[in-house]
Amino acid sequence: MPVHDLSNVDFPSMHKLKVVTKAEVTIYDAIPDGARLVDALRHAQVGPPLLAWRCGQGTCGACVVRVQFPNGIEPPPLTRMERNVLARHGLGETEESDGVADPDRLRLACHVRVSCDLVVYIKND
Ligand code: FES
Repeated sequence: MPVHDLSNVDFPSMHKLKVVTKAEVTIYDAIPDGARLVDALRHAQVGPPLLAWRCGQGTCGACVVRVQFPNGIEPPPLTRMERNVLARHGLGETEESDGVADPDRLRLACHVRVSCDLVVYIKND
């Protein structure tokens, strides 16, 4: 039997997602560091889609979720596209706002990279 030395292999770190919907709370683990949140949600689930995303690029606004970052973790600032889409849907600030990161704010799942454990609230009526 061959023996493989994996000591030099750089495995990506993994994170957990706690996904809260109206119906349930589910923990997904082994989400690779840097995965787009929309992709993590799409691949992690079994059953009907958790999130009715469409474009995957930050234009349709269908992937809006509330993301809670852990205490002490600075959330990445909103991208210009996120601010514009959220404002267009009456959910956020305008392009002129400062984009200061709020630890518990609406985000576009297609624009958030998973870089730590997250709590994600999905409104899927
Ligand atoms: S999937 Fe369309 S804005 Fe994110």
